[in-house]
Amino acid sequence: MNGDGVTAPAVALRHATAPGAWPLLGHLPHLATGPLAFLDSLPQHGDLVRVRMGLRDLHVVSDPGLVRRVLTDRRTFDRGGVLYDKVRAVLGNGLATCPNDEHRWQRRALQPAFHRALMERYAATMTAETDALTARWRPGAVVDITEETFRLTTAVAVRTLFSAGITAHAAEELRAALDVLLRGVYTRVVAPAVDLVPSPARHRYRRALARWRAGVAAIVAAYRAAGVDHGDALSLLLAARDGQGRRLSDDELGDQVATLVLAGAETTSSVVAWALRLLADHPETEARLHAELDTALGGRPVTGAELPGLPYTGDVVREVLRLYPPAWAVTRTATRETELAGRLLPPGSTLMCCLYLVHRRRDLFRDPELFDPGRWAAGEVSREAYVPFGLGATKCIGDDFGMTEATLALASVTSRWRLTPVSRRPPRPVPRIVLSPGPLPMLLAAR
Ligand code: HEM
Repeated sequence: MNGDGVTAPAVALRHATAPGAWPLLGHLPHLATGPLAFLDSLPQHGDLVRVRMGLRDLHVVSDPGLVRRVLTDRRTFDRGGVLYDKVRAVLGNGLATCPNDEHRWQRRALQPAFHRALMERYAATMTAETDALTARWRPGAVVDITEETFRLTTAVAVRTLFSAGITAHAAEELRAALDVLLRGVYTRVVAPAVDLVPSPARHRYRRALARWRAGVAAIVAAYRAAGVDHGDALSLLLAARDGQGRRLSDDELGDQVATLVLAGAETTSSVVAWALRLLADHPETEARLHAELDTALGGRPVTGAELPGLPYTGDVVREVLRLYPPAWAVTRTATRETELAGRLLPPGSTLMCCLYLVHRRRDLFRDPELFDPGRWAAGEVSREAYVPFGLGATKCIGDDFGMTEATLALASVTSRWRLTPVSRRPPRPVPRIVLSPGPLPMLLAAR
């Protein structure tokens, strides 16, 4: 019997309603006090579980086959739901947020910027930026590794995707504005009312937005004046025409680029931050990683060409992506009536494909809560159930980029530094847009 009192055959997918709803508030109190513990409890009830968010329903999907169906059946499901609507309201329509009917031209326009052949060039920037970041580190100092890795990934995004030929100083100015802007976007997505009240934070956000827009406009003008195709995302967007054959305005170009960075920066930075923390908590894994890096690199700095010789480092990243998938929840709206796991969903229903839950299914992963990069070389991972980059037409365009960046950053940092958490208390994952580890103060020591 499932939560709605419907008897389902043993092998059939089950739908249910999460128990413990409060009058009017539904399950919001559970989500507010212990969101991950609440989510963790859902698969025991079914593969598709209805959660009540006040008066609205959210259907949480944790079965890999159902996730595949929701993410690939684009005639029935579109990108929508509160999260996408709110990001769109703040940043406009970019590739990572646009609905299906605007998706095709945007994906086509941007795809060449993520071609595998470009990864070598990007890898050089990734290692240079990691060096620039760690050059500021001193043994004995404490840094918030979540902040540091975010600084790294925003800098890499600015340098690789849209700032060919600009000075290091201008790129840093732009990165700093973007930093404030992206954090501000998160705040506005969660609490849109912040813009109604004058405050120093609102002033900072508005100044950053103005600086960002002016900076992008200056770069666009420079790209147009130079008339050179830099082969990067901005060059492609400058040449692109939208679904109506129209070129993008400067503000639209700025929004497109910001959305691209929004999709790529905190996702990748949280992988590196989680990895550094998990390694500190698992000395045997750390020792094995050090052994691989020391043998393969022999003290030389890591480069993109070295990655195929670092399989264990790659497995550490893959395992972090399994355990703490940054894009932990991918939402969709049903555009027509449909049936899923035996439940009839009316048009407008919101679904949340919970990649975090899929990656922790007991029936698909041995000891799913265990951080064990060794499971990859042992061939124990069900590829069907491992979907950190999503699926189908909207599968992450930056998957190679993100993997390359996270693996290089991890190799570069751990070959030269040992990081120890200031507090041994396990970090509490913060499920916002990205599953972040929250602040992670760590003590630096040279290796
Ligand atoms: C390890 C890091 C990353 C993870 C885990 C990740 C995860 C994802 C996931 C799950 C999606 C699918 C969303 C959906 O279907 O609605 C996605 C889409 C996307 N990601 Fe990533 N991502 C990462 C890194 C990056 C990077 C580095 C970039 C760009 C520089 C990027 C840009 C995008 C864009 C633009 C989309 C939308 C693609 C489309 O709709 O065609 N991501 N990502």
